[in-house]
Amino acid sequence: MRILFVGDIFGRPGRTIVHERLPELRKQHKVELTIANGENAAGGFGITPQIAEELFELGIDVITTGNHIWDKREIMEYMNSANGNEASLARRLLRPANYPKGSPGFGWYQGRTRSGVEYAVINLQGRVFMTNNDDPFRVADDLLKKITAKVILVDIHAEATSEKIALGWHLEGRVTAVLGTHTHVPTADENVLRGGTAVQTDVGMTGPYEGVIGVQKELILQRFLTNMPSRFEPATNDVRLCASLIDCDAETGRATAIQRIMLHQS
Ligand code: FE2
Repeated sequence: MRILFVGDIFGRPGRTIVHERLPELRKQHKVELTIANGENAAGGFGITPQIAEELFELGIDVITTGNHIWDKREIMEYMNSANGNEASLARRLLRPANYPKGSPGFGWYQGRTRSGVEYAVINLQGRVFMTNNDDPFRVADDLLKKITAKVILVDIHAEATSEKIALGWHLEGRVTAVLGTHTHVPTADENVLRGGTAVQTDVGMTGPYEGVIGVQKELILQRFLTNMPSRFEPATNDVRLCASLIDCDAETGRATAIQRIMLHQS
């Protein structure tokens, strides 16, 4: 079976290219399961319930997030609304599983594809240069004791390449893929480890590349040059959709191939 993982959707430019290109991409590659990181979908900072539902509407099955998940406060109530309601769309919007106990929402999801294949998605956040979350390695170990699906995708939302690569080795043979998000720059290290786990350190941003990781370059330059605070606005030009396409055995969950995708706005 084929799984598509779309990298960090950034602001309106990111949402627009997903709207324009995702349906054809899913059709062209006969994608059975689509996952996207949406933590920057609302103007670069967080995600709103309405935007989450628009993304689900486009065929995204599960939305993962990261450190910006709480930027739009209304998302907390939306995520809490999934408590006890496994069938709600809100249940498919994840925050990192290694956040403190009692955080709104859930860090993993288990469901079935339209053709009935059981799958799970685990959302984790790194600890190098990121604080206040639990150990992603041990939280993954604990979750894997509960998860019954064989097809398991992990989004490791982290700053350091070393931590993401290490998690790939840690989970080798136990999950289908370990895909990195957060740094917004796609890495050319896609690989299937011998144990049948596809890895890529960063899938790359789905958003405007004529900027600094999604933000207007002038604003970021001003911050670096003057150390003065400035309001960040999404850049607008050179919009691309970055994703990873994974082939796996639906019975065993073992990955057999991983391909990097970068589409430019037409
Ligand atoms: Fe992030």
